Amino acid sequence: MTSLRVAVLGATGYTGGEALRLLAGHPAAEVTVVGAGRTAGGRVGDTHPHLVPFADRRFESLPVEAVAERAEAALLALPHEESAGTAPALVEAGVRVVDLSGAFRLEASAYPPWYGFEHPDPTWLGKAVYGLPEVMGEQIAGADLVANPGCYPTAVLLALGPLLSAGLLEPEGMVVDAKSGISGAGRVPAETTQYAASEGSIRPYQAGVHRHTPEIEAGLSAAAGAPVTVTFVPHVVPTTRGILATCYARTRAAADTLAAALAEAHDPHPFVRALPAGELPDPKRVAGSNLAEVGVAVDGHSGTAVVAGAVDNLVKGAAGQAIQNLNLMFGLPETAGLDHPPVYP
Ligand SMILES: NC(=O)c1ccc[n+]([C@@H]2O[C@H](COP(=O)([O-])OP(=O)(O)OC[C@H]3O[C@@H](n4cnc5c(N)ncnc54)[C@H](OP(=O)(O)O)[C@@H]3O)[C@@H](O)[C@H]2O)c1
Repeated sequence: MTSLRVAVLGATGYTGGEALRLLAGHPAAEVTVVGAGRTAGGRVGDTHPHLVPFADRRFESLPVEAVAERAEAALLALPHEESAGTAPALVEAGVRVVDLSGAFRLEASAYPPWYGFEHPDPTWLGKAVYGLPEVMGEQIAGADLVANPGCYPTAVLLALGPLLSAGLLEPEGMVVDAKSGISGAGRVPAETTQYAASEGSIRPYQAGVHRHTPEIEAGLSAAAGAPVTVTFVPHVVPTTRGILATCYARTRAAADTLAAALAEAHDPHPFVRALPAGELPDPKRVAGSNLAEVGVAVDGHSGTAVVAGAVDNLVKGAAGQAIQNLNLMFGLPETAGLDHPPVYP
C-alpha cells in the first residue's frame, strides 16, 4: 500500500512534535516534510530527543510549491496568523490541510475582538469544515481544509453537546470551569509558564475573554439549535498535559437519563468513553492518547448537572484529533495510528 505523504509544519512546537510522534506509528502515512520557522536547518533530534525515528532529519522552511511536490496532506501547527495565510495557499497548490490553529474556526467578525487580527482571507472561513469528527464526520471526509478544534472546546463540546441536542439541559446560564496543563501554552517560555510560577498554583486566567469562548458558544448553539452563551473560566494547573472541563447547567433530567444520553450519543465514536452516571472524568486516564472521557453527576439539592470532559490537550485536543481528521479525509480507518492505550500512571 502506498503511504499518504504528510507535511508537518510547525514541527518544532509541542503540537507539531506530538504529530510527529503519532505519525511515527501510523500504518498508512509517512512524514515527508518536517517544517519549522526559526529552527529551519536544525536537527530534529536536538529539539525532540524522544523522537528517535526522526532524529537525523532536518527541519525545513519550504515554499508552498515545494511542500506540494512532496505531500498530499499537511498538518499546520503554526501560530494563528501564519496559518491564516499558509493554509489557503497550500490548498490552492493541491495539498489538503488540517489546521491546528484557530485561524479557520470562527466567522470573520470574530477575529478582531477575539484573535486581535483581521482575517486576511474570509472566503476560506466558509470553505473550512470544523473538525470535530464526533459531530461533523461525513463533512470532514469531503473537506480540503479542516479547522481542527481548540483543546478546551473539544472537551466541552463532547460533554455538553449531546445533552443540549437532546434538550436535557437549560441552555441559559451555563458555566464552564476548565483546567489545562502547561503545555497548552506552547513551547516558547513565558514568566507564567516557568516552573517557579506554576508549581503549587492553580491560576485562573482570561475569565470571560478567552478566545475559545466564541468557539464553544458556536458549537453549543449548533447543538441546542438556538443561541447559547456561557461563562468560560480557564485555569492553568501544574501538570504538563491534560484538560478537564467541568460544566454546570440547570438540568431537566436525572443523572441516569443524562448519562444514558451521553452513552447513546458517543456509542459509535471510537475515541469517546462515556462514564456511568455519577462518575466524572480524569485527564490522567486519557494522557498520551486520543481518548476523551465524558461524564455527568447531578446535584439534586440545587438542580444542577455537573457535566465534565477530559482530553489530553496535545492529542485529542490537537495532534491526535488532527490525525483522526486526516484519516477521515483520506478514507483511512478513523483509528489508524491512534489506537494505542493511554499512558498511566
Ligand atoms: N499547545 C496546545 O495544547 C494546543 C492545542 C490545540 C491547538 N493549539 C494550536 O496549535 C498551534 C501550535 O501550537 P503549539 O503549542 O504547538 O505552539 P509552539 O509550541 O509555540 O510551536 C509553534 C511552531 O510554529 C513555528 N513557527 C512560528 N512562527 C513561524 C513562522 N513564521 N513560519 C513558520 N513556522 C513558524 C515554530 O517554529 P520555530 O520554533 O522554528 O520558530 C514552531 O514549530 C497554535 O496555533 C495553537 O493555538 C495548541
